[in-house]
Amino acid sequence: MNILALESSCDDTCAAVLGADGQLRSNVISSQEVHDRFGGVVPEIASRQHLELANLIVARALSEAEVTLEQIDLVAATQGPGLVGALLVGLSTAKALAAGRELPFAPVDHLQGHVAANFLRTAEPSVQSSPPGPRDRGARQAFEPPFLCLIASGGHTLLVHVREHEGYEVVGRTLDDAAGEAFDKGARMLGLGYPGGAALERLATAGDPEAFSFPGSRSERSRGGRGRSREAFARSLDFSFAGLKTALLYRLRELSEDEARARRADLAASYQAAIVDSLIARAEHALQRTGIARLAVGGGVAANGELRRRLGALDAEVHVPPAVLCTDNAAMIASAARFTRSLPYPEYLALDAYATGERPRASQPPAVAGPKAKHPLESRR
Ligand code: KG4
Ligand code: ZN
Repeated sequence: MNILALESSCDDTCAAVLGADGQLRSNVISSQEVHDRFGGVVPEIASRQHLELANLIVARALSEAEVTLEQIDLVAATQGPGLVGALLVGLSTAKALAAGRELPFAPVDHLQGHVAANFLRTAEPSVQSSPPGPRDRGARQAFEPPFLCLIASGGHTLLVHVREHEGYEVVGRTLDDAAGEAFDKGARMLGLGYPGGAALERLATAGDPEAFSFPGSRSERSRGGRGRSREAFARSLDFSFAGLKTALLYRLRELSEDEARARRADLAASYQAAIVDSLIARAEHALQRTGIARLAVGGGVAANGELRRRLGALDAEVHVPPAVLCTDNAAMIASAARFTRSLPYPEYLALDAYATGERPRASQPPAVAGPKAKHPLESRR
């Protein structure tokens, strides 16, 4: 079955084709740079850009995959969460493409997509494990459930238990900012552009990660954390990044302008280390607590080299998709669509987008316009 998928939840206009053999045939991503000058994504501009790009990106995804629309059997798109205006462009385009040929349509949850990036067979080595040995798997392999998955993006930071290809159970989540948001806000304070994660990582390569001690870092944690008992800190599977951002602000205030400029790389490296330490500590703890020795990752922050290096050193079977499948893309949406209940034509025509982490139960029909179902996993917490 050939699947055509669209993703437009934020500022990337994406389309991909997944072949009948489960092999990725194309993965086209157009990142909107127009937002840089505003220091963040402007929702209305994002929607308009998606509108201009959607058809072009779909045409390119089809031509790169060397298939025509007539050879597509299923169309999929991100239904939510994300910016509603942006989502609606991709969702409506995809529904129209499906309806035009009376094809079935699969509405996909964006976070489920980040998990499903791990189900793709890829051309580059994507698996690391430590210690290296028989558990190492070659390139092109998909990572099959059950496993724990760390999802770290600009809007979400979650640790989830993936028991099967569809759905997951949340075992830890951020109590305030997402990890990507922490990267972006830190980058902004250090005078880097938006989104700042990758830029902060580049700056950090020239710095000393131990030059400054930030909340969440190993050095801070070994001291027991500020105002928190060491035990309570160690027990939690939840994340918190808001204090880190404030700590960077205070460090910057303590330094003179010249000092701050001279120590930017050290600040970036120490700040990045604190975010990565915090993600690794929780992931490690979740592996121990659940006894599941398999970990996957997803979300833009999983493109971070330092995080990838530290994940590779964990004593577990770790699956790290190529960076291009960690940041937003439509290949992951196509991958999730393989395991999502699709709707026959014309049942999906009234399907609406959703902005927050709410999504329909796996066993129930997806949300159509109207009151939204509460996220099934929210209710368990
Ligand atoms: O998954 P994603 O592409 O979009 C959302 O669903 O949010 O994640 C975007 C986030 C941004 O906050 C961005 O700064 C961060 O991922 N990011 C990185 C890196 N590349 C992207 N953070 C740290 N290091 C990177 N190399
Ligand atoms: Zn994302």
